[in-house]
This record gives sequence, structure tokens and C-alpha cells, in this order.
Amino acid sequence: MKVAIGSDHGGYTIKELLKRELSKEGIEFTDFGTFSTESCDYPDYAFKVAEAVARGEFERGILICGTGIGMSIAANKVKGVRAALCHDVFSAEATRLHNDSNVLTMGERVVGPGLALKIARTWLNTEFSGEERHRRRIDKITDYE
Ligand code: RB5
Repeated sequence: MKVAIGSDHGGYTIKELLKRELSKEGIEFTDFGTFSTESCDYPDYAFKVAEAVARGEFERGILICGTGIGMSIAANKVKGVRAALCHDVFSAEATRLHNDSNVLTMGERVVGPGLALKIARTWLNTEFSGEERHRRRIDKITDYE
């Protein structure tokens, strides 16, 4: 699986931690920035990652900002992206099973590093259930787009 990752300054520390974790697990990723803790604008990174996922260059994307909210609002503007803001393991699993989310967003000011990594691991390792009712609901979102 190829994963696109990005953050603003508010999510930089967890992004760096996540990179080390992905490397350890042998998961291929590309870091779309930001590359320091200098203040920057989260939509710039949300669009880079979300568009790369929408183009099919990456199966999944992970975006981190201070709250995870700005990243999820911006990423969900990109056609074909289903970004899920998750701050607990139950939601991370459920959004893969039910929504086939292709982007995960988290807030570094909301969750600690241990929980963030567990959420990311759960989300990456859970497959879409493929059940008809969930497909039908996702199709309604795609049709609306
Ligand atoms: C940056 O201060 C902060 O607003 C940003 O990281 C994010 O939380 C926005 O939703």
C-alpha cells in the first residue's frame, strides 16, 4: 500500500512520528510536507495529499493538523476523497468498514502520540466491508459529487 502523508505546523510532530512507524512496518509513503514547525496553512497540504489520493497515485492519505478539523474540511472538498476525522480507535475501524474512507485526519492537539499511532495503524489495517448497504451509501455520495 502507498500512503500520502501531510501536516501543517500543528501536526508536524505526529507526522514525523508516523513516518518512523510506517518505515518500521515497511509501508511505502510520500511526505507532502510541511517540513518544519514554522507556521503554515493547512489547506495547502490537505489539497496536495487529497489530490494525489484522488488521482489514484496513493491508496490512502493521512493528514494531521492541530485539531484535524481543518484538514478534514479541506480534503473533503476534493472529488473522490472521503476524509474521516478520527480521534478514537472505534471510529478509525468503523470508517474503513462502512465509509471506505481514503483519507484519515487527526489533531495533534487532541490526541497523544501513542493513540494517534494506534488510530493510524487500525485505519491502515482495516479493509472496507464491501457490504451492499455500505456500497449503496457511498455511491450516493459519489453520485452527488
Ligand atoms: C493552526 O493553528 C490550526 O488552526 C490548525 O492546525 C488546525 O487545527 C485547523 O483546523
